Amino acid sequence: MAIYLDNAATSFPKPPEVHQAVAATLRDAGANPGRGGHHLALEAGRIVFEAREAAAEIIGAHDASRIAFTGNATEAINFGLFGLLRPGDRVVTSTMEHNAVTRPLRALQDQGLCVVKVRADERGRIDPGEIRRACAEKKTTMVVLSHCSNVTGTLQPIEDIGPWCRREGIVFFVDAAQSAGIFSLDVDDMGIDLLAAPGHKGLLGPQGTGFLYVREGLEPRPLVYGGTGANSSSDLPPEHMPERLEAGTLNTPGLAGLTAGIRFLQREGLAAIRAHEAELLGELIEGLSAIAGMKLHGPLDPLYHGGALSLTLGEYDPAEIGFLLDREYGILARVGLHCAPDAHRTIGTFPRGTVRLSPGYFNTLDEMRTVVGALSALAAHPPR
Ligand code: ALA
Repeated sequence: MAIYLDNAATSFPKPPEVHQAVAATLRDAGANPGRGGHHLALEAGRIVFEAREAAAEIIGAHDASRIAFTGNATEAINFGLFGLLRPGDRVVTSTMEHNAVTRPLRALQDQGLCVVKVRADERGRIDPGEIRRACAEKKTTMVVLSHCSNVTGTLQPIEDIGPWCRREGIVFFVDAAQSAGIFSLDVDDMGIDLLAAPGHKGLLGPQGTGFLYVREGLEPRPLVYGGTGANSSSDLPPEHMPERLEAGTLNTPGLAGLTAGIRFLQREGLAAIRAHEAELLGELIEGLSAIAGMKLHGPLDPLYHGGALSLTLGEYDPAEIGFLLDREYGILARVGLHCAPDAHRTIGTFPRGTVRLSPGYFNTLDEMRTVVGALSALAAHPPR
């Protein structure tokens, strides 16, 4: 049996009820939600409605209509950034961002957006004071930050930054790709105006699901135009959320699976899930720290460390370690730059990157011991 340690890329396995919900929707309710008034279309619409309610609950949003479904977090981030920013606007972000944030910002920069990147420290930590200082230098439109790094697992103090942004009238956009379903989120308390989340990582849903939360009062311009099942006589898109951002048929089977994933999390309890994952991480950190030549990157304090742990080992190329872990031990890890080159530059691991271990709720302590044993064995036989 393989030991899957790539939950930061996508969670696996999924709870059985997730597979069952996807299969049941394909089998029994495969009509188009919001299109047509027949009973199967209504049933599909109900499935989407439930997913919207579940997504709103898990991030503490009171109004589910402010959740627009997307294919993944990247699409949600693009919808928020391209939908709201204009040439001449100024955005403050960090050097720990994923390309899902960095690349759209770069594209917008080429169209006249001003982008300021606040540098994190070598453990990937962003100082909220530095964000405030960067914002104070010039009129700032938006702050965009990942809640938790996909490279180092560093958890950022968004609860300090969001309420400050709100007081200053700066839009606060959180990329929750690595935190939704793992850490508790409350968009109101945290002063979050926009939040992008994948459905297929911590929320345990299928790939092809994600969403963008947009607080009331912000109305991103659509990036995709087309049918929404309503207001068909007009050649203009609907103005209201979520239809404004949801042209085209939604992924109803995937959203049924997403609801099942979120309900699973709610039943188990986020605190229990987080406690188990922190225990797994603690086991890895303790075991790996004792290996000669091992360098662990990130905060290494379970309180501020999400699911991803990055490491480098002596002279090994991370790609070689990933290959050997898979071939010799059946351990599945992601190596390289993890689509976050700026983060690797920040922690000093560019361009080779790191080996990233990202355990999830279904991993066990025994598996963590096996991983420590495998990396000890590799450390004992370094490459020539
Ligand atoms: N962003 C995902 C990762 O970090 C795919 O692996």
